[in-house]
Amino acid sequence: MELINKKDTSFLKNTWYVAALTTEIDADTMLSRKIIGETLLFYRKQNGEVTAIRDRCPHRFAPLSKGVRDGDEITCSYHGLKFNSDGQCTHSSHGSGKIPKACKVRSFPVEERDGFIWIWMGNQEKADTTQIMDCSILNRKPESAVGYIYMYNKCNYQLLTDNIMDLSHIDHLHGPLINTNGKLSPLLPKVEENGSVVSVRWDWLAEPAMQLLAVHLERPEDQANQFFQVNWHAPSNMHLQVAAVQDSMDYENDGRMLYDYHIMTPESEFSTHYFFASARNYLEDDAEYNAAKMAGMKQAFVEEDKPMIEAQQQEMGEAGFWELNPILLSSDAGGIRVRRKLAELLEIESA
Ligand code: FES
Ligand SMILES: [Fe+2]
Repeated sequence: MELINKKDTSFLKNTWYVAALTTEIDADTMLSRKIIGETLLFYRKQNGEVTAIRDRCPHRFAPLSKGVRDGDEITCSYHGLKFNSDGQCTHSSHGSGKIPKACKVRSFPVEERDGFIWIWMGNQEKADTTQIMDCSILNRKPESAVGYIYMYNKCNYQLLTDNIMDLSHIDHLHGPLINTNGKLSPLLPKVEENGSVVSVRWDWLAEPAMQLLAVHLERPEDQANQFFQVNWHAPSNMHLQVAAVQDSMDYENDGRMLYDYHIMTPESEFSTHYFFASARNYLEDDAEYNAAKMAGMKQAFVEEDKPMIEAQQQEMGEAGFWELNPILLSSDAGGIRVRRKLAELLEIESA
């Protein structure tokens, strides 16, 4: 019970979360997924729009995802109540067939764009789609320059946010493909707050550049200018740009640049849906390279970040981050700013 109360106060509700990738829900999919502690049913209506309703029949709480679909309606497989895509009960075969007034499930605002299905878990009247993080570059690049990955992690979502806000771990944790060879840790990252967006940036000269980009530069072995920049949007959605360039400071036009999205959606206090997407400005028409690059990124995460962060969570148990008195290093500046900002937003929302 205590854990449930904790959950209620730990997640922002009036905000957009990514619930799924577009590719996870086709015409026949009935996707049951828990978002900030609530199990939801996602499916595509016959007009192609995705709908999200509570995956819990109001009668005896059977999951509606175990029900039978007929057009846009779902019949609960336990005692046969039928619901439409707004969650309203439309049919009962019990007694006179009268439908009790309270016989409905909650439906949630959903917005599909740029390969993601976003959901608003809070007050419906506040659901403003202009607040959704801009990921439109994923749409503007050719398909062969864009990739998406879904990953599941047994840890609190804020540990995953910390991981992206403090990229100094790349010096130490990662293998040769993306390792930054000790260049990041000595630097003081530049942290800025712009409205509700917190950004952290590292600029440096490295020799050679990070392997993933270096091999696509004219002189892979030579010195290159590089930067990493992460823009955090509440509650846990991050846009990460990485680039390397030689004989220029114009990363976008002369350099090799990645436009990555690291989007964390809490399933529960100690489990998180991780949505990753990536686009680039080089070899844009090379589908084979695209597949290899995405596989490499996934491998780095699954084999290097994930085991470490899940082990970190295991060790922390249910204790709060600040309760454990963490040592703070210079590279924590961005992550700490984000934790404070999120705590502020949570406090405002619960006031
Ligand atoms: S639990 Fe759904 S109709 Fe009874
Ligand atoms: Fe990493």
